[in-house]
Amino acid sequence: MSGPDGFVHQFVPGSRADLPALLLLHGTGGNERDLLSLGAALAPGAPLLSPRGKVLENGMPRFFRRLAEGVFDLDDLRFRANELADFVEAATRAYGLTATPPVAVGFSNGANIAAAMLLLRPKSLSGALLFRPMVPLAPDPLPDLRGVRVAIVAGRTDPIVTPEQSTALADLLTRSGADVSIEWLPGGHVLTRADIEVGTRWFGLSSLSRGA
Ligand code: MLT
Repeated sequence: MSGPDGFVHQFVPGSRADLPALLLLHGTGGNERDLLSLGAALAPGAPLLSPRGKVLENGMPRFFRRLAEGVFDLDDLRFRANELADFVEAATRAYGLTATPPVAVGFSNGANIAAAMLLLRPKSLSGALLFRPMVPLAPDPLPDLRGVRVAIVAGRTDPIVTPEQSTALADLLTRSGADVSIEWLPGGHVLTRADIEVGTRWFGLSSLSRGA
């Protein structure tokens, strides 16, 4: 079976056809291979879909353009979030994934595009595990995210994402109806073993990981 066009990506079929796929979204300067082992550790047996961001910033792949650190090009962000949601739909058909949409696992810029997908294309994901996200944008009206589980994993000493950004995103998603949890870790803007433990626990508790 040939894969969907549009994004350079990795697809790992997984051994549990009953599980929703994980949509793995790397940080700035990463690529489609970065989060494969994390995804396999978080939800063993789940199919993994891992695209590479198409926007290049000084040669570093990202999922949307920014004007400065934390200042986003909102037109590009809207375009890219929709483009990625379209890719996920095409991949769902091409790879025969479950009717339950994927659960996003995103780090930094990848977490931000995942949050934008939740806010702009609420049916494209059934949940999201967001490591070090910011508020990407605030749509008006808010989407209907009832039934969608979201975990935000924030770093207390993160030099890029302020605690206010983390709680503002949790608030925005909660007001949209999502079931949101926020976990604070002592670290900064890097993934640590503690992040993996939090994520594994969330997937273990999440009914999503059982395909419910
Ligand atoms: C972003 O641009 O999405 C955030 O600033 C995170 C980053 O990529 O550094």
